Amino acid sequence: MRVIKYVFQPHGDDRGQLIALEEFKDIPFKIKRVYYMYDTAEGVVRGHHAHKKLEQILVCIHGGCKIRLDNGKEKKVVPLEKPYEGLYVANNMWREMFDFSEDAVLLVFASELYDENDYIRDYDEFIEFIKEHPNAD
Ligand code: TYD
Repeated sequence: MRVIKYVFQPHGDDRGQLIALEEFKDIPFKIKRVYYMYDTAEGVVRGHHAHKKLEQILVCIHGGCKIRLDNGKEKKVVPLEKPYEGLYVANNMWREMFDFSEDAVLLVFASELYDENDYIRDYDEFIEFIKEHPNAD
């Protein structure tokens, strides 16, 4: 499984850092939705789902967390702890987010509006789904 991590170029000067993200340039899709998680309680694991169509870029803009990616054949854990790093999460990919630091803010850019019908929340169903819709690698 190929992990695609973007390193965004900050516009840094002696005042500090600024990162600007544009669709189709820094983010590889049209950004239809942005959401973020914060105040995540200790020990919580979020996610536990895949999407049929939706693609995402995850950025932990403050603090840190870990993302477990699972394409049905292979699992990888990716730490996210830099505000200039973005993790691409393809469709047809099971994901779990865990090990949130107390101060973690996890920002998500999504290619689709919220649609419960796009979710696969059952792992066995996910395994069946990817047999018909395999991921690129
Ligand atoms: P949930 O799917 O449990 O988050 P995750 O699986 O990523 O940890 O979402 C929590 C709640 O927020 C749930 O009631 C659905 C709602 N929600 C929206 O209304 N819009 C959104 O864009 C998202 C991501 C969630």
